[in-house]
Amino acid sequence: MNKGKKIYEGKAKILYETQDPNVLIQYFKDDATAFNAKKKGTIQNKGILNNKMSEVLFGYLEKNGVPTHFKERISEREMVVRKLKIFPVEVVIRNVVAGSLAKRLGLEEGMKLQKPILEFFYKSDPLDDPMISETAPIAFGWMTDSEMETLKKLTWKINDLLVTFFHQRGIQLVDYKLEYGKDASGNMYLADEISPDGCRLWEIATGEKLDKDRFRRDLGKIEESYQKVCDLICS
Ligand code: ADP
Ligand code: TMP
Ligand code: ASP
Repeated sequence: MNKGKKIYEGKAKILYETQDPNVLIQYFKDDATAFNAKKKGTIQNKGILNNKMSEVLFGYLEKNGVPTHFKERISEREMVVRKLKIFPVEVVIRNVVAGSLAKRLGLEEGMKLQKPILEFFYKSDPLDDPMISETAPIAFGWMTDSEMETLKKLTWKINDLLVTFFHQRGIQLVDYKLEYGKDASGNMYLADEISPDGCRLWEIATGEKLDKDRFRRDLGKIEESYQKVCDLICS
């Protein structure tokens, strides 16, 4: 599979065309941003680790019946994925109170929820990814009612699978962000990446944060924490 024209460079990844019009190469960079790129930095080897962790997690989800864009990891920093039209929606699932939910409602981080919370944000850096309601993506014509139903069904299934997967490896899956898209035939797939960049992961034994909050909040030991998650889930 040869890398063709660069079609997009984002904050953490680059997308390249391939000779197959339905397939892209997703390249993982070490660049790290937070607060919609107001804070910028580098996390050494992050691209390698996130590529590897995404491979493992997409593979696990696929094995359990979740359609994902992942086809194959072809190098340390590159994976082959299905080319999709991404819905401009960030889907956030929360199992424990943290981050913007704690801030918005004045709650302590760490409070376990009786049931997971599903939230939707409009994917727009200039607007700082504002929160939207569940009906907005349909109202704006970004997806149909039935696509939203499929998206929610997949999301609950993914959450059950991922919570169990991480728990078995000593990690609490606090919250995370998913992106979905559809291919030229209209089939929906889970897209983007699943890694400590877009998840809050707390070590169960110690409560230690093992995710991008270490970068956002200047907690140190960033590379070590990403490596630890990789060691726990990739072996
Ligand atoms: P951002 O765009 O937020 O800066 P990244 O640097 O992670 O984020 O860039 C990756 C981009 O690729 C994201 O905008 C994401 O929505 C998009 N993307 C992820 N998977 C696919 C896919 N299978 N097909 C097309 N675009 C994708
Ligand atoms: P939040 O608490 O800041 O709303 O974030 C919830 C989860 O979503 C957290 O695990 C980090 C992830 N996330 C992203 O991946 N990208 C984003 O732009 C934001 C705001 C959150
Ligand atoms: N993903 C966003 C950014 O890169 C926000 C975040 O992760 O905190 O700026």
